[in-house]
Amino acid sequence: MKTNRRDFLKHSAIAGASLVMPKIAVVEDIFEQQKSFKPVAISSANGLKATAKAMELIRQGADALDAVIAGVNIVEDDPDDMSVGYGGLPNEEGVVELDSCVMHGPSCRGAGVASLRNIKNPSKVAKVIMERTDHVLIVGDGALRFAKAHGFKEEDLLTDRAREVWLKWKENLSTEDDWLPPHTIDDKGIGQSLQNFFRLTGTINCNAVDSFGNLSGVTTTSGLAFKIPGRVGDSSILGAGLYVDNLVGAAGSTGRGEANLLNCSSVMIVEYMRQGKSPEEACLMACQRIVDHTKEARLLDDDKKPKFDVKFYAINKKGEYGSASIWSGAQYSINTGEKDSVLKSSAYLYKRKS
Ligand code: GLY
Repeated sequence: MKTNRRDFLKHSAIAGASLVMPKIAVVEDIFEQQKSFKPVAISSANGLKATAKAMELIRQGADALDAVIAGVNIVEDDPDDMSVGYGGLPNEEGVVELDSCVMHGPSCRGAGVASLRNIKNPSKVAKVIMERTDHVLIVGDGALRFAKAHGFKEEDLLTDRAREVWLKWKENLSTEDDWLPPHTIDDKGIGQSLQNFFRLTGTINCNAVDSFGNLSGVTTTSGLAFKIPGRVGDSSILGAGLYVDNLVGAAGSTGRGEANLLNCSSVMIVEYMRQGKSPEEACLMACQRIVDHTKEARLLDDDKKPKFDVKFYAINKKGEYGSASIWSGAQYSINTGEKDSVLKSSAYLYKRKS
């Protein structure tokens, strides 16, 4: 049956009317929550300065998204953090490629940028994509041209320190790249050594509740060191490396992006919180979901546990916070309004053997 415009409007009006009651309930929920929230900023352990900066701005009345971006810009600009921005470890051809995404709770908007070369603040580029395009994700050469059109300056992001680490990896190429021979899910002992320090992903995720009770988040990274050029992890993908729902909470991740892409981890954490889980419980559930969904033998140790790690950072609408990782030893940075941020231990599923 064909639906004409009049029918469509009639049905839309009925559908719209049926939404009125729940909407009123939601507004009342927000009112209740806003009486009891506490501003807070959370990030991965490399974000002590980021969370301090974010809360400094939030105390001055800043919007949570501006605050967390200003926070992670400190880490993007830092040549000594080799997992984010300037000084990040390069791809297998020695070129630094950055990924980032942002999400703004009150406006329900967000955007990401991926495989961005020569621009050290991909988080700022992601925000401009959100504000100045009708797109949600721009990648590669197009992203670079877009950034330059908006006045971002091109620069070489490869520091001597990162180049030397890359050279050492290149000189020792063997089983530690990402090119795999044909294999089945039962094949062990092929592919990269996931436990090798230099292959680990760094990244920073930072989320905050601001003084108005609004939530936002950002994730930014140079991604997996020595990746195949063009490889995109979770950090530029909304739902995987970051998700924010202003009525519920915000969550983001660091660690093996492939696992988060396959499990849509950040949006799952927000949905677990919507169901009533605390931020820490929700992060642990996302870890368990990855464990349950990891079937390839090459990714599992002798106890059939993942050889890799992922870490999650979450806040809810009230300003409660939590973090969890698959393996013990992870930490996160938290700031609830003090001058200095503190590191806390993340919850975990499995204790590391050594
Ligand atoms: N989590 C960062 C990445 O996998 O690229």
